[in-house]
Amino acid sequence: MTNIAVLASGRGSNLQAIIDNIGKGYLKARITVVISDIGNAYALERAKKHGIEAVFIDPKKFPSKELYEEEVLSILKKHDAELVLLAGYMRVIGKTLLEAYKNRMLNIHPALLPAFTGLHAQKQAFDHGVKVAGCTVHFVDDVLDGGPIILQRCVEVKEDDTAETLADRILEQEHKIYPEAVKLFVENRLRTEGRKVKIIH
Ligand code: GRF
Repeated sequence: MTNIAVLASGRGSNLQAIIDNIGKGYLKARITVVISDIGNAYALERAKKHGIEAVFIDPKKFPSKELYEEEVLSILKKHDAELVLLAGYMRVIGKTLLEAYKNRMLNIHPALLPAFTGLHAQKQAFDHGVKVAGCTVHFVDDVLDGGPIILQRCVEVKEDDTAETLADRILEQEHKIYPEAVKLFVENRLRTEGRKVKIIH
C-alpha cells in the first residue's frame, strides 16, 4: 500500500477525487497527510472530514524557500510519504523537495502541455481560441509544468463556451485522469525514459 501526501492550496477537488477513488477501492493507497501553504484552504477541511492529518505550514514564517521546504519535507517524512501529489498547490517546487521526491512527485495541470503553462491555463487556452483543450498529469521536475507527461485528456471547446464552462468540463476530466495516473504509479506501471513515460499494460 503506497503512502501518499497531497499538497494543495485551494478548494481541493482533485484531492477529493483521490480520496473518493481510494474509498471505492480503485486506488490501493492511503493518504497519510495533506499539507497546505494556505491556512483556510478548503483542501484541509476535506482532509479532516476524512480523518486525514491536515497540516498548514505558513511560508511567511520561514526566512527562505529552502527552510520552508525543509519543514514540508520533515512533515512528509514524518508521515512516511512515498508519493507526493500536487493538487492545486500554488508554489513552484524548489530544489529541496525536487531532490527528495525526484520521480515520486506528480502534478495535474488544466491544459494540454506544453501549451499554456502557469496560471489560468484554461483561460489562456480559451482566449487563444483553441478548439481542443484538456488536462495533463506529469512528473514534477525543475521546469514549471514541464516534467515528463503521464496522461492527458482532451476536452472539445464548444461554440457557446466561456472560459468558466470550459474550465468546469476540464475539471471533470482532471478528476478522472489524476486517479488513473496515481493508479499507474502505485501499481509500478510507469517507466520513464528521458521525456517519455511508458505505460506497462
Ligand atoms: C486544478 O485546475 C488543477 O489542474 C490546477 O489547480 C486546480 C486545483 O483545483 N493545478 P482543486 O483545488 O483540485 O479543486
